[in-house]
Amino acid sequence: MSITPRTSTTLTQFLIEQRRRFPGASGDFNALILDVAMACKAIAKSVAYGALADMLGNHPGDGSGSVNVQGETQKKLDVLSNDLFIRMNEWGGHLAGMASEEMDGPYPIPEGLQRGKYLLVFDPLDGSSNIDVNVSVGSIFSVLRAPRAVVEGGALTTTDFFQSGAEQVAAGYALYGPTTMLVLSVGQGVHGFTLDPVMGEFMLTHADLKVPEDTQEFAINASNARFWEAPVKRYVDECLAGKTGPRGKDFNMRWIASMVAEAHRILMRGGVFMYPRDTKEPEKPGRLRLLYEANPIGFIMEQAGGRASTGRQAVLQVQPTSLHQRIGLVFGSKNEVERIERYHTEPVKIENGNPLFAERSLFRD
Ligand code: AHG
Ligand code: MN
Ligand code: MN
Repeated sequence: MSITPRTSTTLTQFLIEQRRRFPGASGDFNALILDVAMACKAIAKSVAYGALADMLGNHPGDGSGSVNVQGETQKKLDVLSNDLFIRMNEWGGHLAGMASEEMDGPYPIPEGLQRGKYLLVFDPLDGSSNIDVNVSVGSIFSVLRAPRAVVEGGALTTTDFFQSGAEQVAAGYALYGPTTMLVLSVGQGVHGFTLDPVMGEFMLTHADLKVPEDTQEFAINASNARFWEAPVKRYVDECLAGKTGPRGKDFNMRWIASMVAEAHRILMRGGVFMYPRDTKEPEKPGRLRLLYEANPIGFIMEQAGGRASTGRQAVLQVQPTSLHQRIGLVFGSKNEVERIERYHTEPVKIENGNPLFAERSLFRD
């Protein structure tokens, strides 16, 4: 079989062309994105070797397990991916610090290495519970500007990262699926690159991605149905009611349990993803984390004409208050996300003390 490349634009060429819009730019930003891409390539390689390189299972391998600041058991690949992100990005002189799902606090650039003007926040491996079953996982990243005092040598603090999603300079993700892809926005639309594994280059294969405004596909972990708030119950009930319900059309459902893979599906063909605030663990306002999951994916969605919301407000407008802050997250096709937001503002109809919206439901007895 002969393989004809669909395009000859590499990530490097793409970044150079983008930079031409800013004649005064130093090139720091491009170099940073290329370092991030290098980390993703290294992670892709480890993910692809899997059991051949003893990459599966929990960290550490002796079975005693290690737990991150969120109380989640770390996989070997969670820890390795975090190390790769740090190693590939600390030396370049473009960053003043990093923060990650797998580190309790911020990571300052070590003494002796040059500091730069950006902050990098990342989820080194999203969906890592899927690693051992060979389902797609990915890395998610967000680039922020570092406060001037930190760039000039001041101490890096947690609050330096408390910037709303709207302030992101760039965001993206790598998806380690049947092909490895890098999806990136530098604030001018969303572009997808596919890794040519022989060349070791990300090639532009999906220029200017757009999320369709309407969809008939939704994604939610239905095992949490009894903990959902009324507006979410209503939305899902109406989807399940299909053609004969208030929506007048049938819906399809998907749940990969890798948010990054769901985001990619939605970017490719539309859909709506929900991990809303629920009553399962009332002290946790949602499952996903604001700074390295909701904000970068929210930025990508909005740059592609979709929408990202907590249900109550645009995700990108939320003012962060802690590094590992959790948040309810709904994103995808604009008209569906807006509908879910509208349901959050409409009064709840109560019958026999229970919120009621639809005539019949698979999730209600
Ligand atoms: P991570 O692997 O980085 O901890 O994130 C996993 C997240 C997300 O990717 C996914 O959508 C969600 O957790 C899955 O949650 P459930 O296990 O409740 O389905
Ligand atoms: Mn994650
Ligand atoms: Mn993770």
